[in-house]
Amino acid sequence: MLRIENLDFSYGDLQVLWGISLEVHEGEIVTVLGGNGAGKSTTLKNVSRLVRPSRGSITFEGADLGRLESHQVVELGVVQVPEGRRIFPEMTVLENLRMGSFIKSTRPDRQRNIERAFTLFPRLAERQKQLGGTLSGGEQQMLAIGRGLMTNPRLLLLDEPSLGLSPLFVKNIFEIIKEINRQGTTILLVEQNVFQSLRISHRAYVLETGRVVLSGTGEELLGNEHVKKAFLGA
Ligand SMILES: Nc1ncnc2c1ncn2[C@@H]1O[C@H](COP(=O)(O)OP(=O)(O)O)[C@@H](O)[C@H]1O
Ligand SMILES: [Mg+2]
Repeated sequence: MLRIENLDFSYGDLQVLWGISLEVHEGEIVTVLGGNGAGKSTTLKNVSRLVRPSRGSITFEGADLGRLESHQVVELGVVQVPEGRRIFPEMTVLENLRMGSFIKSTRPDRQRNIERAFTLFPRLAERQKQLGGTLSGGEQQMLAIGRGLMTNPRLLLLDEPSLGLSPLFVKNIFEIIKEINRQGTTILLVEQNVFQSLRISHRAYVLETGRVVLSGTGEELLGNEHVKKAFLGA
């Protein structure tokens, strides 16, 4: 579904991605693991076309994303939920969700998508009239994912959805990601929470200073010595 090939990327003179190649098959949850500064967010930004690579290619269902603007990528069904959530704090939960169906073709599905978000996140239904800025970190994360779902994504890009959440919310968020996938949305997840994300992933890639150093199934990587040493404190 998604194929990244030999991707190089630099911020000005500083090269931060070095020949990244990875693929996501339809129906999968694929995780990109890596510590702070490894290049995870930059990889997703290249897919979303928020930045432009210096070399390499990215295709989605055969279409070359290198020719598209970021809004056209969204229209193809590739939707990023950004790190740090970025919901609208002065708008209610419901208004935030409605803002998610900014693409004309998704308008007819607006009500159904709101109901889907409320079913996945009952907390949001309870708080639908509350201002976004008054939600807890975990609730804001739910809202950001709910808003992403309003665009009928086929491939959902999630940037560190568990960051800063309490342990209870962390477990909950991973279960919901699994459920969204079960309902038919393919997921490319970026995470530092190695244990929880590998448990729900079909496959994963490990990124270190802008290079893919390991890949395998979730299970393989959970048992991998390097992963254990680098991330799981073993
Ligand atoms: N806007 C930017 N300008 C310059 N350097 C950046 C910018 N954003 C990130 N970087 C650098 O690029 C590298 C990769 O960052 P990032 O993709 O955000 O990593 P991760 O998401 O894995 O933490 C880091 O060294 C970071 O300092
Ligand atoms: Mg990041």
